[in-house]
Amino acid sequence: MASVTSLSDSVQQHLASALSATRPEAAGADPLLRRSDRADYQANGILALAKKAKANPRELAAEVVSHVVTGDELIKDVEVSGPGFLNITIADRAITANLAARYADTGRLGVPVTAHPGTTVIDYAQPNVAKEMHVGHLRSAVIGDSVVQLLEFTGENVVRRHHIGDWGTQFGMLIQYLDEHPHELDHKEGEVSGEEAMSNLDRLYKTARKLFDSDEEFKTRSRRRVVDLQAGDPRTLSIWQKFVDESKIYFFSVFEKLDMEIQDADIVGESGYNDMLAETCRLLEESGVAVRSEGALCVFFEDVLGPDGKQVPLIVQKSDGGYGYAATDLSAIRDRVFRLKADTLLYVVDARQALHFKMVFETARRAGWLGDDVKAIQLAFGTVLGKDGKPFKTREGETVKLVDLLDEAIDRASAVVREKAQDLSEEEIAERGTQVGVGAVKYADLSTSANRDYKFDLDQMVSLNGDTSVYLQYAYARIQSILRKAPEGVRPSAHPELALHEAERALGLHVDAFAETVADAAREYAPHKLAAYLYQLASLYTSFYDKCPVLKAESPDQVANRLFLCDITARTLHRGMALLGIRTPERL
Ligand code: ARG
Repeated sequence: MASVTSLSDSVQQHLASALSATRPEAAGADPLLRRSDRADYQANGILALAKKAKANPRELAAEVVSHVVTGDELIKDVEVSGPGFLNITIADRAITANLAARYADTGRLGVPVTAHPGTTVIDYAQPNVAKEMHVGHLRSAVIGDSVVQLLEFTGENVVRRHHIGDWGTQFGMLIQYLDEHPHELDHKEGEVSGEEAMSNLDRLYKTARKLFDSDEEFKTRSRRRVVDLQAGDPRTLSIWQKFVDESKIYFFSVFEKLDMEIQDADIVGESGYNDMLAETCRLLEESGVAVRSEGALCVFFEDVLGPDGKQVPLIVQKSDGGYGYAATDLSAIRDRVFRLKADTLLYVVDARQALHFKMVFETARRAGWLGDDVKAIQLAFGTVLGKDGKPFKTREGETVKLVDLLDEAIDRASAVVREKAQDLSEEEIAERGTQVGVGAVKYADLSTSANRDYKFDLDQMVSLNGDTSVYLQYAYARIQSILRKAPEGVRPSAHPELALHEAERALGLHVDAFAETVADAAREYAPHKLAAYLYQLASLYTSFYDKCPVLKAESPDQVANRLFLCDITARTLHRGMALLGIRTPERL
C-alpha cells in the first residue's frame, strides 16, 4: 500500500512554495512548522528569514500569507500573529480525507517504508548461562524488542544478537563438578520446565561452589578445566553444552512469558567469538593499538583514569593468557561490521557498563574496525528502583527474580480484569490478566526514557487511570465494544463533507501524526516517544467520546464517520502498542 503524506508535510510543502513565490532569498527557508494550541499548526520560521533579509517580519509574513493557497483542500485559513508567526488552520475535509487514506492502508496506516534501509545489528536480551535473570535483563529485553519492532517497521534491516554470557572462568568449576557427578542434569528432552531447569542449575552451582571453596584439589581440577575449555577439548565442551542447553530451556520460558519472540539462531553468546579471540589480540598488538603491560594486553586512554590518577586500561588478554569480556566484544564488532555488514551497532545494555563500551568502541576505531561510516551506540538504560528509591531488591535484600516479578504483575492484573469483567470466562480472565500484567511491566519500562532510572511500582502500573498500558488497553477494548454495537448496515466510513467538532479535529490531527512519531521514535531509538503519543491518543479519544455521541449522532453519515474515527484510533492504538510489544485484547 502507498504511504500517505501527512498533513504537516503537505502544509510544509505549501509554505515552501509560498515562500519561494514571495522573494527569491526566501526559497528553501525552513518555515519551522509545529503543532500549536492556538491554531492547528504554527510556523515560526519567518522571524529568522526577516532578520536575514532585513525586512519587517510582520510585513514579510503578510506577503507570504498572500501567496498561500487556501480552500477546502488543505489550508482553510492562515493568518499572521504575534511578531510574525503564521497560524494555520486545516480544512475539516482535508483531515477526514487524509485519515481515510490512512485507513485504506490497514496494516501500516500510511506509514512510509524507507527507500534506503541500512543494516542495524542490535545486541539485546543477553542473560547469563546458569544464572537467574533479573530486572536488568528485563529492561534490555523489553527496550531491545521495541526498538527492533520500530526499526523493522520503518524498513531497516535488523540483525538480532543475544550476546549471552556463556563463556569464562566460572564454567571451570561447573564443568568439573558435572563431570564428577554426571547424572545431575539428566532428563529427557522436553521433560523439565523453565523453572525446574533454573533450579537444577542453581542447585548445581551452589554445591559446586561449596566444594570449590572447601576442597583445594577440586579447585585445582576446576582451574584445569578452564584451560581445557578454552583449548576446545571435546569432552569439556560437551559438558559445557549441557549447561547452555539447560539454561536455554529457562531463558525461552522467560521470553515466552514476556510474550517475546527470540530465535535460537540469534543467540550468539560470548562463546560464539571464541575462534576470533587470538586473532583479535594479534591484530591489536601488531598495530600497536594494544600493548603488553605487566603481562596483560592492554589499551590505554588518556581520559580514563583511576582514583590514583593513573590510566586504567581496557584489558583484552589477561596475563595468564585468558580472554575476557572486552576481547569478546571486540571480536563481535569485527564479525558484525565485516561479515554482517552492519552500518549501525546498537547495544541495549545497562548504563553501568558505559565505560566498557566507551573503551571498546574507541579501541575498535583505533584498530580501523569501526570506520566513519559505522555508528556504534550504547543504548544505555538506567536502574530499576524499588519504592524506596534504592535499587530494586526483595525484602530479604536479594535481587528480584524476573519470573517472580512477572507472576506478581499477572496476579495483580488478573484481579483488575476480574473486577471489571462483565462477560468474560475464567479462561479469558486468565489470558487477559497475562496480557495486561505483562503489558503493564513493559509499558512502565518503555514510557520513561531508557537512560533514566524508574521505580517499579506494581500498584501504579496496573492502575486504570493515568499513563499506563491498562488505560490504553481499556481504551482499545472500549472502542471495539462500540464498533460491535454499530447499527445494522452502518459500517465505519469516512465522510469528508461533514464539518468536524473541535474534539474530532484534535483527534484526527493526532492520528495523522502517528507516522512522524514512529519515524522519530525509530530514528532516536526512543520508544518512550511512541508511548507518550499513544497515551495522548487515548486521552484525545476519551474527550472526543465525551463530547461527540457516536451511535446516537444526528445522521447515519455522522454515525458512520464517527465510527470511522473510532476505528482508525483503535487501529493506531493496536499498531502502536504492537511496536511496544504489548497486546491489545479485543474485550476486557
Ligand atoms: N550478559 C551481560 C550481562 O548480563 C550483558 C551483555 C551485553 N552485551 C555485550 N555485547 N557486552 O550484564
